[in-house]
Order: sequence, then C-alpha cells, then structure tokens
Amino acid sequence: MGDREMKTIEQDILRVLVSEEELHQKVQELGGQIAADYEDKDPLFVGVLRGSFIFFADLMRCCPIRSELDFLAASSYHSGTSSSGVIKIAYDLSGDIAGRHIILVEDILDSGNTLYHLRDHLMDRGAANVKLCVLLDKPSRRVKPIEPDYVGFSVPDEFVVGYGLDYADRYRNLPYIGVLKPEIYEK
Ligand code: IMP
Ligand code: MG
Repeated sequence: MGDREMKTIEQDILRVLVSEEELHQKVQELGGQIAADYEDKDPLFVGVLRGSFIFFADLMRCCPIRSELDFLAASSYHSGTSSSGVIKIAYDLSGDIAGRHIILVEDILDSGNTLYHLRDHLMDRGAANVKLCVLLDKPSRRVKPIEPDYVGFSVPDEFVVGYGLDYADRYRNLPYIGVLKPEIYEK
C-alpha cells in the first residue's frame, strides 16, 4: 500500500522551456519597467482571462505604482492548438475607460488575432492608449501586424502550457512553462 506513484500533469510535459526562477526574475524586470514608464499615469491593467491570470497576479505585485486593474475574456480557440481568427468578447470591462492609459496583459502573442481585436475594442471605447504586455511571444506564427510593447520571452513554434497557459483548459496550474508532449494533442 502507498507505493503507487501519483499521477501528475508533469508526466505530460516533454521538457521545461522556462523555469519558475526564470519566470519570477523576468516578471520582476517587466514590473520594474512598467512602473518606471507609468509612474504618474495611473494606468489601468487589463488582464485577458483566463490564460494571463498567474502572470497578471505576479506582475501586479512587482509594479508598486498607483494603478487600477480589471479583466476581460476573449475566446478564439475551439480547443485545438491554433487560433480560428474569430474573436468573441465573452466578458467585458466593467467601467468607463475613456482617456485611460491601458496595459493589456496576455499570456502569449501567437497569430495576433486576439490582441489585435482587443486593442481595437479598447481604443473604440475611448482609451487614451493601449500597450501590450505579454509573457510569451511566438513571432513565427504572426498573422496580424502587431508587436508587444513588453515581452517576457520569445518562444519557438511549439505548443506550451503552464503558468496560466492551457491545452483544452488543463495544465494551467503547472508552475513553469513546459512543452506539451505532442501525443497529448495528436490523440
Ligand atoms: P492568437 O490570437 O493566435 O495570438 O492567440 C492567442 C491565444 O492563443 C492566447 O491567448 C492563448 O490562449 C492561445 N495560445 C497560442 N499559443 C499557445 C500555446 O502555445 N499554448 C497555449 N495557448 C496558446
Ligand atoms: Mg488562452
């Protein structure tokens, strides 16, 4: 009894791409940069649910300036590994954003469809400006002409999970960024 090994999500990971230590160091750097750039702008941080939730929470704690935060949710994925290009806003910001300096925080910039659409949406609602802060960037997959203003790591064209990023809504609770074993999504 008790000799059976626990089944964990780690067994589905091919390799670690960004370790916990690397994540924490980078998030501190980004928080410091944003704090310096927005010191007296009272920015509104907008987290894109659900993938950004861990990055967002860590980033906020590394950015000790006067600011507010809110969330919105977008969906473009039909549980595969690439974007459909059709973005729906499933949950919108609660308050008025006219004249606000917005930092849109997302887990990963891939095709760019999601952030391109969300940035337009926020500008249409009257934001003074919208800057993009992404933990990961996959430039090789870009379809829309869009670049991040703040970026943690540039990553190769592999499907990654963890630290908020999911595959079919799983693996968000992995504490680091890992490459998912292809057999998981090729099943
Ligand atoms: P885009 O609209 O193609 O830029 O895709 C953005 C969304 O796709 C992100 O918010 C992620 O949810 C998802 N995504 C893209 N690449 C990956 C990945 O490698 N792992 C997990 N999610 C991803
Ligand atoms: Mg997502």
